[in-house]
Amino acid sequence: MRPPVGSLLVCDIGLLVTNRAELGSGALGVVRDVDLVVENGTVAWIGGAGTSPAADEMLDASGRCVIPGFVDSHTHLVFAGDRVEEFTARMAGKRYDAGGISATVAATRSARLSALMATAAKLKREAEAQGTTTLETKSGYGLTVADESRCLEVAGTVAEEVTYLGAHVVSPEFRGKEQDYVALVTGPMLEACAPKARWCDVFCEQGAFGPDATRQILQAGLAHGLGLRVHANQLSHGPGVQIAVEMGAASADHCTHLDGADVDALAGSETVATLLPGAEFSTRSPYPDARRLLDSGVAVALATDCNPGTSYTTSMPFIIALAVREMHMTPEEALFAATAGGARALRRDDLGALAPGSRGDLVVLDAPTPAHLAYRPGVDLVAAVVRAGRLLG
Ligand code: NIG
Ligand code: FE
Repeated sequence: MRPPVGSLLVCDIGLLVTNRAELGSGALGVVRDVDLVVENGTVAWIGGAGTSPAADEMLDASGRCVIPGFVDSHTHLVFAGDRVEEFTARMAGKRYDAGGISATVAATRSARLSALMATAAKLKREAEAQGTTTLETKSGYGLTVADESRCLEVAGTVAEEVTYLGAHVVSPEFRGKEQDYVALVTGPMLEACAPKARWCDVFCEQGAFGPDATRQILQAGLAHGLGLRVHANQLSHGPGVQIAVEMGAASADHCTHLDGADVDALAGSETVATLLPGAEFSTRSPYPDARRLLDSGVAVALATDCNPGTSYTTSMPFIIALAVREMHMTPEEALFAATAGGARALRRDDLGALAPGSRGDLVVLDAPTPAHLAYRPGVDLVAAVVRAGRLLG
């Protein structure tokens, strides 16, 4: 353990994205030629280059661009094994149907705790090296009381936002007895898992959980003090988004198949539409209509959905490149969605911006503008990553 940093001066920032329009120009609140001081983990001061107060440590940005750390608000990092054969078959034309989840469930159940910990930790390090400073992660590949509980313990070691997804699919032992599985998920499994999670999520989809079960599970999560998130409208049009809005979920995730009523419902709500284009990339599916959502005033987040089935990437820069190239988001919209959008999807007002009072989470990019994240896809532009005023790596 390194000693806590008292204060960190990031000097000679050529371009700083604050994500606070009132602090600079454009929607990203861009300011130029500044220094920034983080004190006790929190941004304390931003001002003209060379005029900052003294600090314990210094990081020289050398005229480069500094952005808020990425907030990856949707991942599944707790699993064992991989599904490369399934991916390869898909690339040869096979359709994704979520049936592969059971292979990961079997591998996860038979894995040692230390192996689950090691895989999750490795994925976290990967994410951090690519600029992610906040992670959400979930259970969902255990599907028994003991296995879900164990997966949440692992989740808590790598992510500061932890989600209970006992309702990922009906566990293989309960096939044909969905109501009995829902009783387990809302009963003993929830009792064991709620103390280890902040959020409750349901995969609302044909072949996973229908509207009644989804409502029942979310209601039980709420009653146990959990906030709500929903895997909604991923593979087909369904009721997931409407339920997420109706129940006040923080986020409806995927949002790939939406109709006008879904977009209107999201636009008039506090529910963020979290888009996960890594899943469409890796399942070779049509991308969500991000433009329609943004143009209708819906709050949009971008996240990786890192999981061994549909999106085995930890790279937020890759997701930004997909969002710009494939979903027609502007580079500014994509960066905002990957930082401030993720923070909003997690209902965290301390994250996703670089303004006095924000947590000191930032990335120094080896690039003159943040648009280079999409302009130079597949190239590592992350020069340094700081979380709460501490240099990572
Ligand atoms: O977010 N949609 C459900 N869950 C994951 C995929 C899980 C898997 O295929 O292992 C997702 O895409
Ligand atoms: Fe997911």
